[in-house]
Amino acid sequence: MKGTKLEYRDCGWVWAFVCFFACVYSFPGLASDEGHESSVIQLNSDCPPGFEQVTGRCYLRNLYQLYDSLQNAGVGGLKTGLPVIRDGFTPQQIDLGRYLFFDPLLSSDGTLSCGSCHHPDLGFADGRSRSIGVTGEPVKRSAPSLWNVGFLDRLFWDARATTLEEQVQGPLYAVDEMGNSEKQLLASLNASPVYRRLFQDAFQSSRIIAAEVYTAIAAFEASLISLNSRYDQYAHGYHAALTNEEIEGLNIFRSFVARCAECHTPPLFTNQEIAIIGSPEPEGLPFDAGEGELTDEPTQRGGFKIPSLRNIAATAPYMHSGNFADLRDTVSFYTKGRGHAVPENEQLSIHWHIWEPDLADHELDLLVTFLHTLTDESMQPQIPKRVPSGLMPVGEIPGVPVEDLAPGD
Ligand code: HEC
Ligand code: HEC
Repeated sequence: MKGTKLEYRDCGWVWAFVCFFACVYSFPGLASDEGHESSVIQLNSDCPPGFEQVTGRCYLRNLYQLYDSLQNAGVGGLKTGLPVIRDGFTPQQIDLGRYLFFDPLLSSDGTLSCGSCHHPDLGFADGRSRSIGVTGEPVKRSAPSLWNVGFLDRLFWDARATTLEEQVQGPLYAVDEMGNSEKQLLASLNASPVYRRLFQDAFQSSRIIAAEVYTAIAAFEASLISLNSRYDQYAHGYHAALTNEEIEGLNIFRSFVARCAECHTPPLFTNQEIAIIGSPEPEGLPFDAGEGELTDEPTQRGGFKIPSLRNIAATAPYMHSGNFADLRDTVSFYTKGRGHAVPENEQLSIHWHIWEPDLADHELDLLVTFLHTLTDESMQPQIPKRVPSGLMPVGEIPGVPVEDLAPGD
């Protein structure tokens, strides 16, 4: 008579833990506009869900932090520790970062915010194969999701930045993205009495400097945690969280036949290495050498950072080029033969874990079924109803009807 009830009770201690962390650390801090309905924008003094406030700073609390490091658990192990996260920011810095992130004031012409290309309703990506910047032209690559980005020590598809503060200067000042300059950015922020007051609250400074802008945005980004998917509940010991098919998919994912977990290693579903897998560009677009472009080193041509697969079901299209429209096409890429999509004039040092697993159609389906269990958007922050500049929060999302993505929906 082993029903769901018994199984549930069997792992009651796990739930006690989950509830302890979820309840103690969630409720005070939900990033909301509570109190912001009044005319004055005030920064939240509570930490976001999942973070504990210790002497005025926010620290992540998560079950995975109780587990051993990757080294002790083996690739594909369920109870595997997390890498170090960038935490320790104050609630005010995190909330200020939220306003900056969604304020189109940060772009040269006031049309785009970070949220235009990293929209919470689109898995913090933008649903496009290549993002569109202030010039109206597509940029070179697809916008990655920002979920769990606080754990990453390599950023951008070609891993050219190592910190969030360094990374943020890319989109801000690239002519084809937000097209701003540091001088204009600081002038427009310092011209806003609201921003001056908010920076004073977050940094106790009387004049806004660039480093504070970068810190606040990094603080907000590092608060985007997605670690409570059905997969996670299963990993923590609640067996009934996944169906038999999903478990079969997980087992294929971490098998030495498919080898997905060698690179997309749990719990982040990336080991943060760079790998050359030889994924194709869309028809008519030139070969993107990825990391090889930065170094001129032939053996690094075609190298891209292994992306996390968290919330992957929300971030189509896929790969640096956005070449694959859905997960089924993406997963099929891995079974079509090593180097099958590499242009004839390129000699790529394809990674040794990319081989010919010869997966059957139903196994590819099961992989996709499993990838859907990695969805958890429960800690999605609220888009501010108003931003300090008075511009429309989020700004434009090229190609997406505004009414579909109205703030606060
Ligand atoms: C025009 C669209 C666009 C805007 C606006 C934009 N981004 Fe991005 N973002 C991208 C694209 C495209 C990439 C990938 C570029 C690459 O790897 O070469 C990216 C990459 C990133 C990454 C790296 C993620 C990873 O996993 O490596 C972070 C972090 C990020 N953006 C944050 C921001 C922030 C913060 C802002 C606002 C200051 C912003 N972005 C504005 C399109 C945009
Ligand atoms: C050798 C390391 C490696 C292995 C093994 C591997 N991947 Fe990947 N994966 C990558 C890299 C690198 C990228 C990004 C490549 C690019 O953008 O061109 C990627 C991209 C993806 C993406 C798209 C992510 C996004 O955000 O667009 C999915 C989905 C994916 N892999 C699933 C899988 C599955 C399923 C398997 C097993 C069948 C697998 N991967 C095996 C390295 C690997």
